[in-house]
Amino acid sequence: MSAVADGLAGLGAWYAERGRHALPWRRTRDAWAVFVSEVMLQQTQVDRVRPYWERWMARWPTVAELAAAPAAEAIREWAGLGYNSRALHLHRAAQAVVERHGGRFPVEERAIRTLPGAGEYTAAAVACFAGGARTIVADTNIARVLARAALGVASQREASAAAVRAAGEALLPHEGARDHNLALMDLGAIVCTPRAPECDGCPLVAACAWRAAGYPAAVMAPKTAARFETTARFARGRIIDALRAGPRPEHELRESLPAAHAVKLHDYLAALAKEGLVVRAGDGWALPH
Ligand code: ADE
Repeated sequence: MSAVADGLAGLGAWYAERGRHALPWRRTRDAWAVFVSEVMLQQTQVDRVRPYWERWMARWPTVAELAAAPAAEAIREWAGLGYNSRALHLHRAAQAVVERHGGRFPVEERAIRTLPGAGEYTAAAVACFAGGARTIVADTNIARVLARAALGVASQREASAAAVRAAGEALLPHEGARDHNLALMDLGAIVCTPRAPECDGCPLVAACAWRAAGYPAAVMAPKTAARFETTARFARGRIIDALRAGPRPEHELRESLPAAHAVKLHDYLAALAKEGLVVRAGDGWALPH
């Protein structure tokens, strides 16, 4: 572990030179703006998120503005990003922040954690990137760097979450946690990539336990994804897409789905209604108001 700690000096210089400083959500310390970015980035790549984040922040620059808008508008603005429940989470989080905090988005990890859409990672990320909190922000990129450099294994799947966390804690500097976490994140995204790490350009190369061990291969296979068109997520997305244009009778929703999904329409609608993404409208369905 201490070898990696020694390598950290070079990490700062690497980040200053190669870090993704221009990402727009890194140019603000506004906790609301950072929260929106982290929710969007939960399941979506940086390049796709960027224009959505810009539009969202231009439309609802404050928590209060989104809280006052209909939920349907948040879901419409989300079109094309996927995992639509995230739009609803943002809307509900905005309403909760108005009610509980008078519209001031909190920067304390514990307070953020209680908001819709904020898991452990997101709460830590906002507390750190907006508030400068000294906390580990173990997204997949950071976890992979820690697993390799400190634990000597090919990826975080080969280690326990507790071990990755402990490695992160041991390396967290007393000052400058924000830059430290962003540097590890960028190192994982740019250099220490899953399949083709560029160790020659890595500031941790001399200290890396994975390299020292001769790059032991992964034993655990990465999760294989089902073909998207076969997933419930695909069908749910189709249903929400149809409702973005306005309320629809049930038969129209059924016709918008391939046969294998159409037979499960009631299950999909029941789940979406339970989550609050759709509501009944006459004999059909609509987005929530
Ligand atoms: N900058 C801050 N948070 C980020 C994230 N989750 N992904 C990429 N860049 C980020």
